[in-house]
Amino acid sequence: TRDKMPPVKGDVLVHALESKEGQPIRVSDLSEQLVRAWPMGKDEDGNTVIRKGDPNNILALYRFPKGQIQAPTNLEATVDGEIVAYSDVCTHAGCSVADDDQKAGAMKCPCHSGQYDPKQGCKVIGGPPPRPLAQLPIRLDGDNLVVGDFFLQNPYPFNEAEWEARKK
Ligand code: FES
Repeated sequence: TRDKMPPVKGDVLVHALESKEGQPIRVSDLSEQLVRAWPMGKDEDGNTVIRKGDPNNILALYRFPKGQIQAPTNLEATVDGEIVAYSDVCTHAGCSVADDDQKAGAMKCPCHSGQYDPKQGCKVIGGPPPRPLAQLPIRLDGDNLVVGDFFLQNPYPFNEAEWEARKK
């Protein structure tokens, strides 16, 4: 069903936090603190559907001051080089990655302390993850942040075949 579909181009990014779930994320909601998001699109009948049926669809959004986001982040897939979105599924064993409380603007996985740098393409900077978190291209459409394209890297840590099929 459509709630299990991975992010689709044009999907609106909405809050995943329970108290705000389903509310479109505004630029002003974002900062160097992680904001979790779901893609929200349409089902077969044209009704809006939050794509949270697959936990692999959970996303992590950050907004950094201009100039801080650098390679290997794909800057063209960010909003103004300031807002960036990644899969929030750890490439080690699939846990949801959180802010690193010890290091501003960095990410740490609660399961085995994998660390990622969201300013540098979520490259691995510590712990066991074998590869970066996948970056999701986004753009601004009016006040909404929307999905610009499919993930740039494999967001399915344990399923290379699914990635090969879906990126086509
Ligand atoms: Fe994230 Fe193991 S699942 S470090």
